[in-house]
Amino acid sequence: MSIFFILFFLLHLSTSQLDDCTSAPCSKHGPTIRFPFRLKDNQPPHCGFPGFDLSCSPNTAATLLNLPYSVQVIVTNIDYKSQLIHIKGSNSCLLNLSTTPFQFADSVYNFSLFSCPSTIPVESFEGPWWSTPAACLSGDGQEVYVKSSGMSICYLPQLISCRKMYNVWSVPYDAFDQTADLQLTWPQPVCGNCEAEGKFCGFMSNSTSGEIECFGNLNPPKKGTPFSSFPFVCMLKSEKVKRKFAYPK
Ligand SMILES: *[C@@H]1O[C@H](CO)[C@@H](O)[C@H](O)[C@H]1NC(C)=O
Ligand SMILES: *[C@@H]1O[C@H](CO)[C@@H](O)[C@H](O)[C@H]1NC(C)=O
Ligand SMILES: *[C@@H]1O[C@H](CO)[C@@H](O)[C@H](O)[C@H]1NC(C)=O
Repeated sequence: MSIFFILFFLLHLSTSQLDDCTSAPCSKHGPTIRFPFRLKDNQPPHCGFPGFDLSCSPNTAATLLNLPYSVQVIVTNIDYKSQLIHIKGSNSCLLNLSTTPFQFADSVYNFSLFSCPSTIPVESFEGPWWSTPAACLSGDGQEVYVKSSGMSICYLPQLISCRKMYNVWSVPYDAFDQTADLQLTWPQPVCGNCEAEGKFCGFMSNSTSGEIECFGNLNPPKKGTPFSSFPFVCMLKSEKVKRKFAYPK
């Protein structure tokens, strides 16, 4: 009996160490982290899909998504079934997703940015053609206003003392508001179907080019006594270990 328990714990310990693709969330209520995401400091590359690197903020325990050009956003929620994440608080003034696996989930529009003297009352820029002033671009006595491309500047006389900065294509209305809750989707990899079936998603163990497959069970039956869970745990672990060694890329 006692030998059995020692064996069980030894085995459990050793397989837990090999099973390096499970990760705790950054905080108690932080989003669950699993494929296609990975915690880049704790998990090897095969645990996540390229471009889905997360990290935990050392100060706030927020879950951070690391995008190219040192852009970081806070991930507040991950909906694995719908392949949708909620983000906010970008450290970049304007989120450019062109080199990321993500797309804006909300409708996108084209905008022009204008830099105007802050002496012009904010009220002049209210109405359907204006989005939030871009606080992070403003300063030095200038206020940056964002105009949707739907209206000719000829009909907007308040712009006469403003300077046109540049155009921005295909972003949602809230893209200039760092406090807004933005939603991003990812078209690839398609893991939503695995999630809907209650399975994990991951790289195919015999894949040579990063194909993915569904496996295992996201919600294993409740743990019984060690006697009943023992064979189950072993089966599950050995499958993951196999997977790990079979995908060394
Ligand atoms: C934004 O501009 C691009 C290129 O000029 C154009 O193809 C697209 O249709 C525009 N989108 C909207 C919503 O106006
Ligand atoms: C994003 O960056 C790419 C180049 O890296 C550029 O071509 C594109 O216009 C940018 N998009 C926006 C919305 O600024
Ligand atoms: C991997 O194995 C599965 C069955 O085990 C097979 O259907 C699939 O075609 C294989 N893929 C590659 C890339 O060999």
